[in-house]
Amino acid sequence: MTPLDIERVRCRLPERRIVWLETVGSTMHEAARLAAAGCPSGTTVVAEQQTAGQGRHGRSWHSEPGAGLYLSVVLRPPLAPDALPVVTLALGLATAECLSRVSDLSLDLRWPNDVMIDERKVAGILVQLVDSAVVAGIGINVNHARFPPEIAAEATSLRRAASASQSREDILIVLLPAIDSFVKMLVEGGPQPVLDMFARHSSYVRGRRVSVEQPGGVLEGVTAGLNPSGFLILRAPDGSESLILAGGVRPAPVEPES
Ligand code: BTN
Repeated sequence: MTPLDIERVRCRLPERRIVWLETVGSTMHEAARLAAAGCPSGTTVVAEQQTAGQGRHGRSWHSEPGAGLYLSVVLRPPLAPDALPVVTLALGLATAECLSRVSDLSLDLRWPNDVMIDERKVAGILVQLVDSAVVAGIGINVNHARFPPEIAAEATSLRRAASASQSREDILIVLLPAIDSFVKMLVEGGPQPVLDMFARHSSYVRGRRVSVEQPGGVLEGVTAGLNPSGFLILRAPDGSESLILAGGVRPAPVEPES
């Protein structure tokens, strides 16, 4: 695999501080360290390889050297901490928009922020609050030819979906400004435009039969929109509604015909 040409990215985005690391445990730790030291908003840490990439819910993130994009961006939007769920939706939108622009593929968003192609995950987002800064971690499967058996059925890459390699530099050059514009949209326009846009771009927000892993067990129902805070509304077969606060949303298993 060709190493990332970070100088090409820096030349195209001269205002942005981009820290490139060949190998790191997790870009989240490096970005959190910079955030705590007071780095400017937009500071971005990109790694060629992560040895302990983190996913959501304590899972790990498969970080094959040279194949994907592994980055964490420090953001300092003037928003209350309770706006975090909508910030994560905005980051999902930015990632999906960027990937559809560079690849011409059709992308879906699985609430809250998995980016999907044909029901398989191509990118994931992890958002953490560090000393009042937001650290937005984004992992994108770009040129992976295959995946480890434990995620092979769920994951895809742009290369697999498009049957062609994709330039990681082009993706970064489009992604970083897209993140800035979606965060600006949220800061200037409030949550509603982001919620409306997410609902338009995600097949999971309304009318989708899903099962959701919750601490007390698995809930099944049909999705019924987002509440004003960005949480997913799930309608159970008896008509009662629950709010889903964290991910774990999957298409419901198809019931056998009787
Ligand atoms: C998810 O589980 O969907 C979130 C995955 C987030 C992965 C990215 S890769 C770059 C950054 N560093 C990490 O350790 N995790 C995030």
